[in-house]
Amino acid sequence: MTAQRIDGKAFAARLRERVGEAAAGFATKAGRRPGLAVVLVGEDPASNVYVRSKGKATVAANMESFEHRLAADTSDADLLALVDQLNNDDAVDGILVQLPLPGHLDEQSIIAAISPDKDVDGFHVINAGRLSVGQSGFVPCTPLGCMMLLTDRLGDLSGLEAVVIGRSNIVGKPMAQLLVDANATVTIAHSRTKGLASVVKRADIVVAAVGRPEMIGKDWLKDGATVIDVGINRLPPEPGADKGKLVGDVAFAEASEVAGAITPVPGGVGPMTIAVLLRNTLVAAHRNAGLTAPEGL
Ligand code: GUN
Repeated sequence: MTAQRIDGKAFAARLRERVGEAAAGFATKAGRRPGLAVVLVGEDPASNVYVRSKGKATVAANMESFEHRLAADTSDADLLALVDQLNNDDAVDGILVQLPLPGHLDEQSIIAAISPDKDVDGFHVINAGRLSVGQSGFVPCTPLGCMMLLTDRLGDLSGLEAVVIGRSNIVGKPMAQLLVDANATVTIAHSRTKGLASVVKRADIVVAAVGRPEMIGKDWLKDGATVIDVGINRLPPEPGADKGKLVGDVAFAEASEVAGAITPVPGGVGPMTIAVLLRNTLVAAHRNAGLTAPEGL
């Protein structure tokens, strides 16, 4: 069997298109565009690339992009002052502070300072709490994007066995919560799990978010499993090349022999994150303006 390739890139493009149309509709009603502020502290090259592509995608989706680039030695106090200013700016619906922050900054207290109603990353404890008790809030973009791909492929997830590998606050834990809420039977596995391969073998749905290149081989997978690969790992460069190949946590070619469907890396989960960020910003704009957010996004 050869697995169906789950085309996250195409799905994300369609979502961005719908969000862009809805953002134009919002602007007509509210007299302003939805606004997303992105804060980058320091010069981390990968973060720089992300922030630039977020800015472009925001504008392409008919939203305002506010970029704040701060020096690497910015103090907690100065960053908190900026967050406070953005919390109180009516043109700003969503605030994203790009992580990781330089080591001298207190990530937890910065995230805690973001207004939960502008926390389009869904990282604030209030939004984590809302997700865990079933109140509407903001859900972290990557797991929500994974969920969209899963329900698009599988429809109803009731009773399916799902194994999430990874327990981060950003991906693993919210992913598990979303799957439980969709009536799947969920196991959260991680680096200390005993017999990890045999745990994964039970799964109808595998979500891999461990950051270990091509760790999950075909022997780990149940026939026909749906595999969502969140990993983005760069292999060491081949001789003569200046950059290594990007691979996921799953050995894509061999896993495709066993899985029913699988996301590639790149072009799977990655493009979903920004599309969902725009979707969350659109929803934030509607809530902040007292309007009803459109359905089906
Ligand atoms: N760094 C890498 N991905 C993300 C993300 O989705 N949000 C934030 N805030 N930082 C990140």
